[in-house]
Amino acid sequence: MAEAIDVVILGGGPAGYACALKAAQLGLKPAVVEKRPALGGTCLNVGCIPSKALLDSSERFAEMRKLERHGILVSDVRLDLARMLARKDQVVRELTNGLAGLFRKGKIEWVRGSGRLVAPGRVVVTTEGQNRELSARAVVIATGSEPASLPGVELDGKFVVSSTEALSFDSVPERLVVIGAGYIGLELGSVWSRLGSQVTILEFLPRILPTADAEMAAMVQTSLTRQGLTFHLGTKVTQVRVEAGRVIVTADQQGSPQQFTADKVLVAVGRRPSTAGLGLEELGIRTQPRTGKIEVDRRTYLTNVPGIYAIGDVIDGPMLAHKAQMEGEALAEMLVGHAAYVNYDAIPGVVYIWPELANVGWTEEQLKEQGRAYRVGKFPFLANGRAKALDETEGVVKVLTDGKTDRLLGVHIFGPRASDMIAEAVAVMEYSGSGEDLARFCHSHPSLSEALGEAARHAAFGKPLHL
Ligand code: NAI
Repeated sequence: MAEAIDVVILGGGPAGYACALKAAQLGLKPAVVEKRPALGGTCLNVGCIPSKALLDSSERFAEMRKLERHGILVSDVRLDLARMLARKDQVVRELTNGLAGLFRKGKIEWVRGSGRLVAPGRVVVTTEGQNRELSARAVVIATGSEPASLPGVELDGKFVVSSTEALSFDSVPERLVVIGAGYIGLELGSVWSRLGSQVTILEFLPRILPTADAEMAAMVQTSLTRQGLTFHLGTKVTQVRVEAGRVIVTADQQGSPQQFTADKVLVAVGRRPSTAGLGLEELGIRTQPRTGKIEVDRRTYLTNVPGIYAIGDVIDGPMLAHKAQMEGEALAEMLVGHAAYVNYDAIPGVVYIWPELANVGWTEEQLKEQGRAYRVGKFPFLANGRAKALDETEGVVKVLTDGKTDRLLGVHIFGPRASDMIAEAVAVMEYSGSGEDLARFCHSHPSLSEALGEAARHAAFGKPLHL
């Protein structure tokens, strides 16, 4: 006998849990099917949160070397990796337990196991060989994504690893080769480089961070090279093999073969939607042939099968936790008949290296491609008082505005705490604000955010005040 529930959500990551929390707040009875031993999906368990815990810890370790300029003399700084990893695990535990607490408070049932759609509105959950059937008027697929690999490259979890294992190396690898200069490659490459690894990043394209503004990506590459990472661009990995406890990576660099030897290889060439075993084919749920992502109506998140919705990494758009969360919340609202909407033009992205790279809106290359008239405003942190006081003067704010209307079209920040500063740019874009609006907002002094106002002055008035 199927148990009646209003909405069954497959997956307890940012898309699924946000949908469940909001649905419960709106008076629905949701159930979340999750097979991991903890809620929170990739983000909380093996993604955003543990990687940020390690990025913050390793940045503190690296900072020790910068303290002399502040007149602070530190000696005998040593690394206790086991403790650093234990702190990261503790952060994850507290957040996943917190989420389980929110589920209890919202009377959201966590059905442990793997869910499979057997018919519209019907899901079978398998736990330790036992089947349980759930029925609901709405079923939401929020099963996220998993690391992709390269053809012929097997992730063995020990020598050739994905981001999951690279969050828990039990010793600092002497030589780490990273395949892919995207979000994961740069973030985890930074972590292990700061802790002492010799890090080499191999990237297929002629540039790093393919979705970032090219000028900002080039700045990031220069900065990370100065920090000790080595980049090989235009480098196509053709083979990865393990020999006598070491990994040999063979690659093609513009026609000439190259070999790299490493103790560990991190494969960070993207992620693919996690949909195997869900019953998509049996139910005729349409997916995109190239990416495997589930096709939905972008306003309703409805698939081609009535009553079945999909949100988060399994559908189109950037694979970002906050995008997934917004979709989860919006869908819950729509399920109770409210109007809801996610503005895909104002979703920020952050690469948590140091300095951080944050962006929202269009890149300069995209505006050129569109043939749109635009203005550029820039301001370096070198001319910002707070950055000087912090001794964090590396980086630039770049503001892109419409050449005719001055509407804010894109903001790119490479600088200290760019992840927090980008929020102001998101707010202005959400309100369809202009470069002049951003320039005339009063920014507290001294603060890093003044650099944003100055870059906006440059775009709107042709000149910042302090340059
Ligand atoms: P990514 O899509 O960011 O970067 C993958 C990189 O690998 C690209 O530069 C691509 O050109 C390169 N590549 C592909 N095939 C290659 C090959 N054969 N040889 C060498 N390079 C190759 O993917 P990544 O870094 O694996 O991250 C996966 C997803 O996770 C991303 O979509 C990102 O949105 C998300 N993520 C977000 C974070 C954040 O918001 N801070 C942090 C980590 C991941």
